[in-house]
Amino acid sequence: MTNPRAQAQQTKAPLVRRLREGVKRFFGPWGMFVRGFIKHPVMVGSIVPSSPTLIRHMLKPIDWKNTRLFVEYGPGVGTFCRPVLEHLAGDATLIAIDTNEDFVDYLRRDIRDSRFIAVHGSAADVEDIVRAHGFDHADYVLSGLPFSTLPAGVGPAIAAATHRVLRPGGAFLVYQFRARARDFLAAHFARIDNAFEWVNVPPCFLFWAWKD
Ligand SMILES: C[S@@+](CC[C@H](N)C(=O)[O-])C[C@H]1O[C@@H](n2cnc3c(N)ncnc32)[C@H](O)[C@@H]1O
Repeated sequence: MTNPRAQAQQTKAPLVRRLREGVKRFFGPWGMFVRGFIKHPVMVGSIVPSSPTLIRHMLKPIDWKNTRLFVEYGPGVGTFCRPVLEHLAGDATLIAIDTNEDFVDYLRRDIRDSRFIAVHGSAADVEDIVRAHGFDHADYVLSGLPFSTLPAGVGPAIAAATHRVLRPGGAFLVYQFRARARDFLAAHFARIDNAFEWVNVPPCFLFWAWKD
């Protein structure tokens, strides 16, 4: 004879598992991002992923039809990757580069799209990474890097490498909590458009540095 208590527990187990999985799915990217911040606060630089309003604002000037390669620095848990992939042509590529291996593993598991490549590495090596994937240049580079807390010299090196890797007419898109990133950009880019986005935690500066 079946024990009613054991039977009740058996029916409860899948329900509890399903509930746990649902909660994990709902909080998944947030939980992952907060864990990443706790582990590497200086490199991650923020405890909250970018808002949908910031994402729309930042991506607005992009000419998607003429984009073959889009590169993102510091994708974190992929807050920008998904909207970029929604706009990107079927034969285009998104390369996302992050120094945090946990984030890269998470992205590889979570974003199943043949146009998406997650690379564990530094933005400073963007030229080698782009070449290693069969491209000569990038059309756009987007950065969520915390420029003001990066080790000395890394910000200027990344701005220089980005200018070299972009095609003429391409742009370096940067969102930052402090305006200082503009100094790194101004050393290489003659034309820099800027804006401020209040609907983000915290509100931030946006720069579009164009390679003429
Ligand atoms: C503020 S988070 C950006 C999160 C995400 N892009 C968003 O919009 O929510 C900064 C990210 O930059 C990464 N990072 C820091 N230094 C880096 C570097 N030199 N190259 C590539 N990624 C870096 C961190 O690991 C972290 O994922």
